[in-house]
Amino acid sequence: MRITIFGTGYVGLVSGACLADAGHHVVCVDVDENKVARLREGHIPIYEPGLEPIVHHNVEAGRLSFTTDADEAVAHGELQFIAVGTPPDEDGSADLQYVLAVARTIGSRMEDYRVIIDKSTVPVGTADKVAVAVQEELDKRGKKLDFDVVSNPEFLKEGAAVNDFMKPDRIIVGVESDRAKELLREAYYPFNRNHERMIYMDVRSAELTKYAANAMLATKISFMNEIANLAERLGADVEHIRRGIGSDPRIGYHFIYPGCGYGGSCFPKDVKALARAARAIDYEARLLDAVEDVNDAQKHVLFDKLNHHFKGDLKGKTIALWGLAFKPNTDDMREAPSRTVMESIWKAGGQVQAFDPEAMEETQRIYGDQAGLHLCGTKEQALKNADALVICTEWKEFRSPDFELIAKNLSHPVVFDGRNLYEPEMLTRRGLTYYAIGRGLNQ
Ligand code: UGA
Repeated sequence: MRITIFGTGYVGLVSGACLADAGHHVVCVDVDENKVARLREGHIPIYEPGLEPIVHHNVEAGRLSFTTDADEAVAHGELQFIAVGTPPDEDGSADLQYVLAVARTIGSRMEDYRVIIDKSTVPVGTADKVAVAVQEELDKRGKKLDFDVVSNPEFLKEGAAVNDFMKPDRIIVGVESDRAKELLREAYYPFNRNHERMIYMDVRSAELTKYAANAMLATKISFMNEIANLAERLGADVEHIRRGIGSDPRIGYHFIYPGCGYGGSCFPKDVKALARAARAIDYEARLLDAVEDVNDAQKHVLFDKLNHHFKGDLKGKTIALWGLAFKPNTDDMREAPSRTVMESIWKAGGQVQAFDPEAMEETQRIYGDQAGLHLCGTKEQALKNADALVICTEWKEFRSPDFELIAKNLSHPVVFDGRNLYEPEMLTRRGLTYYAIGRGLNQ
C-alpha cells in the first residue's frame, strides 16, 4: 500500500519505518527542512534501539523516503497518517495547531479519496475538527471528494518503540466507515497475522482510549509513590508491599514501581490534558488532578532527603548524579526527575557532576554552560571528589556498581537512590548510608 506520514518525530518515524518494513511504500513528510535533509543522509534524530537499521534498510530498498514536499506527500498515500506534535498549551490542554495545519494541507491538495488517520495523541473531538478543516479546504477549491477521518492512537514506549509497533498488544481503530476500515485492516495485516489485535470502535472512544491508558498507568505509579511515602513514615518497606500486591493478578506487577516520579513526553502531558479537557466541560477530574499533584511532589523527594541529610546546607557541596534521561534506553529528558533534582541543588548553591549513558548531549543542549553542572564521561568520574551520590534513572549499568569505589570516593558516604536499585544491606555493609524510596530506613 502507499502510505504517507506527516511528522518525523518519535511516532511518525517509528510508524513509517515499521510500515515500510512490512512491505508498504511509505513517504514521511516534515516541514523541518534540516531534519528531512539529515534523515535523507541516514541520520536518525532520536535514540531508539533497533530503529536505525530498519530505516536504512527500507530507504535502500526504496520503500521509505523523506520529503518536505506536501504536494508529493498528499498525492502519494491513500492513507495519510497525522503524527505531528500536540504540545501542551499554556493551561496544559493539547495544542492542535499542527494537527489542523496538516488537515488543511491535505484538504487543499487531495485529488482523490483519502483516509486521514490521527495517530498523534489528540483530545476527544479532534477527528471532527480535522474533518471540518479538510472539508473547508475542499469547499474553497469547489471540489467534491470523499474522505474519512480515523483515530488510530499509538501505544509506543520509548526505548521499546520498534518492538511495540511490530508486536502490538492491540491496535485501536476508531472508524465509522467500512471503506476506511478495510484499508486500515490491510495496512496492519502484517502485524495482525497470528492473532486478532485490531479493536474497532467509534472515533471518540478511540481518542479517549489513548488518554485513559496513559492516565491509568500514571495513576498506578502515583498510587504506589503515595504508598511508598506512607511506608517510609510507618517503618515498612514498599518493595515487600510491591511484591505482595503485585502477586494479585487483578493488580499485577507492571507499573507499580515506586520512584522519584514519572517523566517523559506522555504521562505528564496527557494527564494534564485530560484533566483540563474535563474542566472545559465542567467536570472536575479529582483523581487525575491528584495523580498530577502526587507526581509533582514526588519529583522533589530525592532533593528533600539530600537537603535533610546535609541539614539544609548544600552550599559548595558537590553531588554526583547518575541518570539524566527520564527512563533507561532513551536520551529523552523531557520532564525528567533528574532536572528537578539538579535545579534544586543549584538553587541551594551546590554543584552537580552528572553522568548518563545516552543523555549527555541532550543535557548539554538543554543546560548549555549552566554554572554548577559538570558532565562526566563515566559514572566513576562523576564520583571523583563528590560529597554524595544521587541516582535518578535505573540504567542497567547502575545496577551492580563497585560499592567500595563509591564509598572511597564520596566525602560523605551516602547514596540517594530514586529507583530502589539495591538491597539496603549491600550498601550498609560497606559503610554507605542508603536512602531509597519508601523503604523505612534512615529516612
Ligand atoms: C508511555 C506509555 O507507557 C506508552 O504505552 C505510551 O504509548 C507512551 O507513553 C505515549 O503516550 O506515547 P513512555 O513515556 O515512553 O511510554 O514511558 P514509560 O515506560 O511508560 O515510563 C514513563 C515514566 O513512568 C518513566 O519516567 C518511568 O520511570 C515511570 N515509571 C514507570 C515508574 O516510575 N514506575 C513504574 O512502575 C513504571
